[in-house]
Amino acid sequence: MIAKIKQLLEEVETLKAANAEELEALRIKYLSKKGAINDLMADFRNVAAEQKKEVGMRLNELKTKAQDRITALKEQFESQDNGCSEMDLTRSAYPVKLGTRHPLSIVRNEIIDIFGRLGFSIAEGPEIEDDWHVFSALNFAEDHPARDMQDTFFIESHPDILLRTHTSSVQTRVMEVSQPPIRIICPGRVYRNEAISYRAHCFFHQVEALYVDKNVSFTDLKQVLLLFAKEMFGADTKIRLRPSYFPFTEPSAEMDISCNICGGKGCPFCKHTGWVEILGCGMVDPNVLESNGIDSKIYSGYALGMGIERITNLKYQVKDLRMFSENDTRFLKEFEAAN
Ligand code: DAH
Repeated sequence: MIAKIKQLLEEVETLKAANAEELEALRIKYLSKKGAINDLMADFRNVAAEQKKEVGMRLNELKTKAQDRITALKEQFESQDNGCSEMDLTRSAYPVKLGTRHPLSIVRNEIIDIFGRLGFSIAEGPEIEDDWHVFSALNFAEDHPARDMQDTFFIESHPDILLRTHTSSVQTRVMEVSQPPIRIICPGRVYRNEAISYRAHCFFHQVEALYVDKNVSFTDLKQVLLLFAKEMFGADTKIRLRPSYFPFTEPSAEMDISCNICGGKGCPFCKHTGWVEILGCGMVDPNVLESNGIDSKIYSGYALGMGIERITNLKYQVKDLRMFSENDTRFLKEFEAAN
């Protein structure tokens, strides 16, 4: 009997099963009612009294080992892919889920692309800025309302430090360290102390463009604006410039494009005027050139700035600005095709 137990013990310790069925067969062979171990248990009563203790211990050991081994093999299968023990190399791969680019990134990249083809390169500056780069170097008067606490987020302990309210600050950052020709495009995030609603947010995105060189004229500006509008909104797009005021440009203008939703016929979006405003622009004020170390007698330049949310709204008719910062994947997925 002891020899038989020893033999079974050796078998049990090296049990192997290639799949769940084989494992079940092993369980039946060793552990079921009619299994080998139970057979031995049944023979136990024939064991001589003086051997009962040793045989009993060995039998119990055998049973425990068999159970442990079969449980271990079972766990091994369960941890494998759904009981499938072999790798199926012919199975098609799980589809890789691709994310979608954010609509504001799509539009920003398109703007960068258009200006990139015209020779503009990207420049960036800090979002936490100082008064000089956001206001003073851009010819804002000391008492200009844009400096007001209502519009600008100041750092409480450092009244000179603020969150930039426009990307025009990057103009000054670039001009102060370089000489013309300067041809840059500056995309970035800006902040204003606005109540959040469907049409205003306390942060949004702008793109600024600046070109400074000898003999840069308003005609050059108009040409670039027209080209940009046609590239962005389609070849039929018309532009119109309205005189305006910005401290850093003289003369200044705001540009409208023919409403791309109604084609200029008039609709609620363009308030039935046929035109929608998309950007501010003008000739860089000589004071700004001088403040930033550029000789305004030799050089002139133009600048323009636009809101990326505004352009995106026009292209995709997003009615609520808040959608851009809510990370609702149902909204973001809608731009899959534009990626
Ligand atoms: N910085 C202006 C704003 O935040 C936009 C702007 C207007 C930029 C005219 C310019 C410009 O460069 O020439 O509203």
